[in-house]
Amino acid sequence: MLTVGIVGAGIRGRLFADALRTQPGVEVVGLAETSEPVAATAREATNLPVFSSHTELMARLDPDAVIVATPDFAHREIAVDIAEAGKHLLIEKPLATTLEDARAIADAVQGGGGRCLVGFENRWNPHVLRAKAAASDGSIGAPITSSATLSNSYYVPTQMLSWSAASSPAWFLMPHTVDLVLWLTERNPIKVSAVASKGVLSARGVDTWDVVHALITFEDGSTANLSSAWVLPDAGDGIVDFRFSLIGTRGSVSADLSHQGLTVVSDKYRSEWPLSGRVGRSQVGPAVWMAQDFAAGLLDGSDLGPGVEHGLLVTEIICAIELSVELGQPVELSNLRSTPVA
Ligand SMILES: NC(=O)c1ccc[n+]([C@@H]2O[C@H](COP(=O)([O-])OP(=O)(O)OC[C@H]3O[C@@H](n4cnc5c(N)ncnc54)[C@H](O)[C@@H]3O)[C@@H](O)[C@H]2O)c1
Repeated sequence: MLTVGIVGAGIRGRLFADALRTQPGVEVVGLAETSEPVAATAREATNLPVFSSHTELMARLDPDAVIVATPDFAHREIAVDIAEAGKHLLIEKPLATTLEDARAIADAVQGGGGRCLVGFENRWNPHVLRAKAAASDGSIGAPITSSATLSNSYYVPTQMLSWSAASSPAWFLMPHTVDLVLWLTERNPIKVSAVASKGVLSARGVDTWDVVHALITFEDGSTANLSSAWVLPDAGDGIVDFRFSLIGTRGSVSADLSHQGLTVVSDKYRSEWPLSGRVGRSQVGPAVWMAQDFAAGLLDGSDLGPGVEHGLLVTEIICAIELSVELGQPVELSNLRSTPVA
């Protein structure tokens, strides 16, 4: 039996608890949550013990593996403690929001000897998997350029997340699109150029960027163009706008993942996501399949990925995006890596 603990009992922590509830050979033994109201809700929803810290969860239940589902900037301490104890980790994206934190987690995973999966859930998204197959089997040739848009309506930064001012469209959304273009193209990123704007969200009390645009250049001269905004209207097209395309030397692949073929119009126009929630007795959707695959990989010893080194690379690229916005000029990743962290 593989025992699993979950740290952070918010939206994702509870989703993961549900995802693993009926998996053979797997037992979610408990959660940790610092907010007492959230802990009380989670106790009620899961019927599991919910401790007030990850250290208490570890001391009391000693699980084999831990899922870290705390806010973007609050992964390091938990992940390092758990990895150093030799436990396996599923850690939500982004791995961390500073180079120092990301390197500390990567070092702890390497030193501790446990296995680690970073939660880039699009690797379990059927549309993305088909795009990956087209990119890998030669049908569209070599990558020339790719683009990806992943944006949210105001609901996400102003209502869904209590900690959005400590994150941004770059940290909350771009880990997915950076991972996507790296995975689809398998190219080595060398340079990042980015611009961002502010003002609309800060006027609504959330002091972070409204929109971030980033251009990544790869070693072979190919490019990827990423955009993320947190200012889509709530009365529009659902809370997520997610589209991408990859143009190759012999063809292209593109997807609009905001629409899974279902639109509901009431007082609002909304795209729905049938590929989530419950179908029959099963939880479905990329995040659910990711958590189940993590547990299955630990049970049978098969490959787990994307791992901590990839998570570190994605954090490096987003740090380069932040730095490029700040400096108003392109940032070479090699320069960023050679800069000692504070
Ligand atoms: N892949 C996706 O589509 C996706 C979607 C949403 C969130 N996420 C990621 O999942 C992570 C969690 O996001 P969420 O939406 O569940 O946020 P959330 O705010 O709903 O839940 C996070 C919980 O962690 C708790 N917490 C904070 N510090 C803690 C600590 N030290 N110990 C224990 N609990 C602690 C908070 O009180 C909160 O209840 C973030 O990294 C986020 O980027 C991914």
